[in-house]
Amino acid sequence: MKKKIVAANFKMNKTDEDIKKYFAVFLDRINGLRNKTSFNDFDAELIFAPPFTSLSETHKIIEPYMDFIKLSSQNIYSEKSGAYTGEISIDMIKSCGCVYSIIGHSERRNIFKESDELIGKKIEAVYSGGGMTPILCVGENLEIRKQNGQEKFVENQLAVGLNYIKGRNIPSLIVAYEPVWAIGTGMPIKADDGEAMHGFISDYIISSFSIGELRVIYGGSVTEANIKELMGKPHIDGVLVGGASLDPQSFHNIFKLAAAQ
Ligand code: PGA
Repeated sequence: MKKKIVAANFKMNKTDEDIKKYFAVFLDRINGLRNKTSFNDFDAELIFAPPFTSLSETHKIIEPYMDFIKLSSQNIYSEKSGAYTGEISIDMIKSCGCVYSIIGHSERRNIFKESDELIGKKIEAVYSGGGMTPILCVGENLEIRKQNGQEKFVENQLAVGLNYIKGRNIPSLIVAYEPVWAIGTGMPIKADDGEAMHGFISDYIISSFSIGELRVIYGGSVTEANIKELMGKPHIDGVLVGGASLDPQSFHNIFKLAAAQ
């Protein structure tokens, strides 16, 4: 059985002080759950992606929970080291306790002009890090969706982004399907439309690559109000939550509803 994923992307929010306050509330609630339920009953993995500056602090706090709470970076650069002022390598985030890295988030693609080719190099860098799994983000904008071009568009993002793994046996991959028009807009995808895209993405990946464990998660305006319906769909293996993850109580509620599915 695949473990479902409930991931928090804090984006450019929270200092170390904020992180400490956040987890004081969040872990208190998790401990409450833990007392009521056997921990093995949690059929879900929690992932936190704080800013680079709080990776170590977050790692310190979640270490006792590492059996089901994991750490991710929001990005990396594709090179291992060298004269790349302001950039962060895979070894650096690994040394902070990360086992995942988000790659190709639409904010990176749109604001920082990251190309599919660069994203492909970053995917290669993550796998070269050893023991690390990328969370590759893909998704169409509204114009493409209106023309019903989302499948072709996302297939191309996947083909270029995953070029490195062609012909290789890869132990695990997470793809986050995040339609750009649904991110931060309060307009999530309809669960049936999400299910259709997730089915398309997994079929494409399974037929083109050799991956031990593939999980396709959804991101874009996930809240307590829509989590149950989304997680009820067979091809939706989890969620990547932005805005609604910033409040520990609301994110805990999302996790509880997702894990209970
Ligand atoms: P959102 O962001 O939940 O605020 O829409 C999701 C994301 O960008 O990963």
